[in-house]
Amino acid sequence: MNSAIKTLFQHQHGFIVSKIMFTASELGVFDLLKSEKLLTAGTIAERLGTSPTGMERLLDACVGFKFLRVERKEKEGLYGNTDLADLCLAKTSPKSQYNYMKLCSEFFYPNMHYLPDAVREGKNQSELIHGISSDHIFDAFSRSEEGLQNFIDGLGDSWSLYGKEVLSAFDLSNFPLVCDVGGAVGALAKECISLYPKSTVTIFDLPEVVERVKKHVVFSQEYQITFQEGDFFKDPVPEANLYLLARVLHDWGDEKCVQLLTKLYKACKPGGGVLISETILDEDRTGPLVAHLYSMTLMVFTEGKIRTASEFSGLLSAAGFKDIQVKKGSVCNAILGRK
Ligand SMILES: C[S@@+](CC[C@H](N)C(=O)[O-])C[C@H]1O[C@@H](n2cnc3c(N)ncnc32)[C@H](O)[C@@H]1O
Repeated sequence: MNSAIKTLFQHQHGFIVSKIMFTASELGVFDLLKSEKLLTAGTIAERLGTSPTGMERLLDACVGFKFLRVERKEKEGLYGNTDLADLCLAKTSPKSQYNYMKLCSEFFYPNMHYLPDAVREGKNQSELIHGISSDHIFDAFSRSEEGLQNFIDGLGDSWSLYGKEVLSAFDLSNFPLVCDVGGAVGALAKECISLYPKSTVTIFDLPEVVERVKKHVVFSQEYQITFQEGDFFKDPVPEANLYLLARVLHDWGDEKCVQLLTKLYKACKPGGGVLISETILDEDRTGPLVAHLYSMTLMVFTEGKIRTASEFSGLLSAAGFKDIQVKKGSVCNAILGRK
């Protein structure tokens, strides 16, 4: 098969790869194998309450995609986690992506079905997905306790993978007061404090989010994290030396982004700045592929979009920020603008 045909085949079936990983995660395979190391398919099936044949086939597929490994002893296979599974795929993994996979599997996966509608109409499909017309994906999630919890927990997971990279792209040690605007579950705030222990971080988010985060997330004493409830379009934001704005602008159109950035510019202490963390589209708009994945997702669920570095610079300049610098990372990038 030539490489173009191989690419075609791979992408035609890409959604099945996601579903294999989500299914093993949902059934608890990675968690069981993280604690028990090597088990036969029969034992895994029994412990997780599934059929032995179904489980064996799922385990073999997971081995094929390198989520699991297998040691064959005579006729029996002993299955175990790969390093990737131990690190990221179990609930108790040190860099667990369990909640994000749950959000992808239960929400993004079925609703990407509406992509052709979004392209046809040029607007998000929240009316079809949630039964309400809304500019922001969040309005729909916040209507149910469980939906809200899944959303904020899911988003938090990725910062254990990319948080340090984003926060160390620039030296932020001279910004003692940090405000994480739309900081949700505080995952980036925690990474910020661990890298810059002299900083204090205020998480500014909608009241319903702050209420849940305070109730369900344990912030140990060593984290200098405080909370402020509010709507960043309507309410004042706290004064700070540095505003973190991670994966917030991609939810909004240009006008609203400039409105928010202008508010931050006015509240920012002299010499301070804003650190935007987003996936960035190349200037020729052909890649990276992860930017296209997010671009399509945002089209279905929000009024926002993925932007190029020069588009971010334009938004920051329109709000008054200067000395704009961009540092590219593996998935999430860092853009710093100064007051
Ligand atoms: C896509 S999430 C990003 C969360 C977090 N920064 C991260 O990267 O994991 C957007 C966040 O913005 C918050 N948000 C949305 N609209 C808001 C508003 N009007 N005022 C304050 N926060 C808002 C949401 O509650 C949510 O936590």
